[in-house]
This record gives sequence, C-alpha cells and structure tokens, in this order.
Amino acid sequence: MESWLRALVLVAAAAAVLGTPLVNDLEPGKDVETTEDPVNANTDELAAKNVDEIKEEIPKIIQRAAADDKDDKVDYTGAQVWKVSTENSGVRLILGRLRRRNLIATWSGNHSYVDVLVKSNAVENVTKVFQRENIDFSVVIDDLQKRINEENPPLDQNEIELQDRRGHRMTWKQYHRIEDIHGFLDYLAKTYPAIVSVKSIGKSYEGRDLKVLRISNGQKTNKAVFIDGGIHAREWISPATVTFLINQIAENFDEESDEIKNIDWYFLPVVNPDGYEYTHKADRLWRKNRKPTIGTRQCVGTDLNRNFG
Ligand SMILES: *[C@@H]1O[C@H](CO)[C@@H](O)[C@H](O)[C@H]1NC(C)=O
Ligand SMILES: *[C@@H]1O[C@H](CO)[C@@H](O)[C@H](O)[C@H]1NC(C)=O
Repeated sequence: MESWLRALVLVAAAAAVLGTPLVNDLEPGKDVETTEDPVNANTDELAAKNVDEIKEEIPKIIQRAAADDKDDKVDYTGAQVWKVSTENSGVRLILGRLRRRNLIATWSGNHSYVDVLVKSNAVENVTKVFQRENIDFSVVIDDLQKRINEENPPLDQNEIELQDRRGHRMTWKQYHRIEDIHGFLDYLAKTYPAIVSVKSIGKSYEGRDLKVLRISNGQKTNKAVFIDGGIHAREWISPATVTFLINQIAENFDEESDEIKNIDWYFLPVVNPDGYEYTHKADRLWRKNRKPTIGTRQCVGTDLNRNFG
C-alpha cells in the first residue's frame, strides 16, 4: 500500500495525451451566453453563500447538469473544419478576432498552417472575410456532425460474442465508454492477480473512480513508470492508446524482455472520466472536466492539463 502510493507520488508522469491543440481558448461547443443556464446562473448566488451551504448545493447542481446533458446534445451539423495557411502576415490576427467573436475555434497546426473549426452559422461570413483578406484555405471536413456520426459505429454481433468469450469488452475497434475501460482493468486484475492490481486513487467531481492499474513482478529494485491518458475529454485516442499498452504488457508479460518486466508500471487510462463520458453523451468536442466554476457565470469545467496548482 505504502510503496504503491509512494511510487505514484515519486515517478514522473508521461502523459499519453495525443493531439493537444496548440491554441484553443474557445470551447467550440456551446455559445457562451448563459443567463438561462441553471448551472451557471446559480454560481452567482453560490458566491455569496458560505462553504457549508455551497456543499449542500453541489449535489443539486450535479443533478441539474446531468438532466441538461440528456436533453442537450450539441449538434455540429453544418460546422466545417478548414486548413488555413498562416504564411501571410496578419492571418493569425484575423483568426484571433474571429475566435473572440465566437465564430471559429483554432485547433492544431504548425508554423504555416492551422486547422480551424468554423461554426455552422458562421461559414458564410467567415468565407467572406477570408476572400476579402486573401487568406488561403481548403475545406477538410464539410459537415462535422456527419463525421462524428460515422466515427464510432456500434460493434457487429460477432465482435460482441467475442467480447463475451474474452471476459471484457475492449476491442480497440471502437472507442469505448468508461464502464468498458474500467471493466477491462478489473478483468486483468482478476485474471492475473500475481502481477496485476487495480486501485481507485480518488473520485472525479461527479463521483467516478480514478482507476490506476499496476503491473509488477514485485522485484524490489524495479523503477516505476506512470502513464496517464484522457486528460482532455475529447481526445478519445488517448485512453485507447493507454489501454492498448496495458493489454500488450499484461497479456504477454512472460514473453516480455527484462527491460519491460523489471518495471513497476502504473496506468491511469482516463484522468478525466466525467469529461470523457460527457463527450460520449452530450458534446463530442468537450475538452475540460465538468466542475461548475463557482464565482464565474460563463465557465463550466477546468482544463485539467493546464489549470492546476
Ligand atoms: C505544416 O502542415 C501542412 C498541412 O498539414 C503540411 O503540408 C506541412 O508539411 C507542415 N509543415 C511542417 C514544417 O511540418
Ligand atoms: C454575418 O454577417 C451579417 C451581416 O454583417 C450579420 O448580420 C450576421 O449577424 C453575421 N452572422 C454571424 C453568425 O455573425
């Protein structure tokens, strides 16, 4: 127990978060005007209350947020992704202006290009601005919602039967919900108790377990490696990658080289389970966690990859 915790604290974190956007200050999902939003409207009242009262309010806020999630699936029909050349001076300035007006969000890029999400209601106006300013761009995705719908098709019957025989639901052919991921970790701990164990190192804001899987042959001289994924909710490839690594090492442990075997491995595949579930249920492009920020009206969620002490 103690060495487990010590290892967690001491080892350096190798974040498996892939594709982190370079510049994305804007949440592309919801428009930010929120006076009608019960979660946000409530935060001003909360700011005036004492801590105990706030603690009593929090379960109600979560309930309301959960109710909102159900009715309120964000629709990206007509939104587009453009590849925009930033070689001409001034382009980034214009992009910044469009971003502040909430018409676009900038995704990843390099020094000569950037991928830009153009909101559906803004395609016409942004096109005009680009033409006027002579900005080169090409449309990479012409209907984002269509891509989202195609991205994660359900499994066919054969694969479901295969899952049942194997004892867990992970396939690495689709992006799985948190329940499948956690089920996979528990399955490995049950199947390989000599080398694999699972512990929850705490709860997320909405009460989900933060499950860490440990693989170790128990040698005292082992160094520890900690690998996490899924800090940003919408980067589904990241938990998929971490669980893939876990599968490779746990299922083939005896055949692995000593370099792999003589390490205490710690994996936290989903650092942000609330946000991850929210991207499956409500907004495919949600990035932060789901904690309402007390004292501000327009900010639900913390970017766990940036905003911590
Ligand atoms: C930048 O991105 C563009 C478009 O994806 C690509 O064609 C180009 O090779 C990249 N440049 C560098 C220096 O990586
Ligand atoms: C697009 O431009 C028109 C004319 O300037 C303006 O009325 C409209 O609000 C703009 N649309 C958006 C989404 O900003």
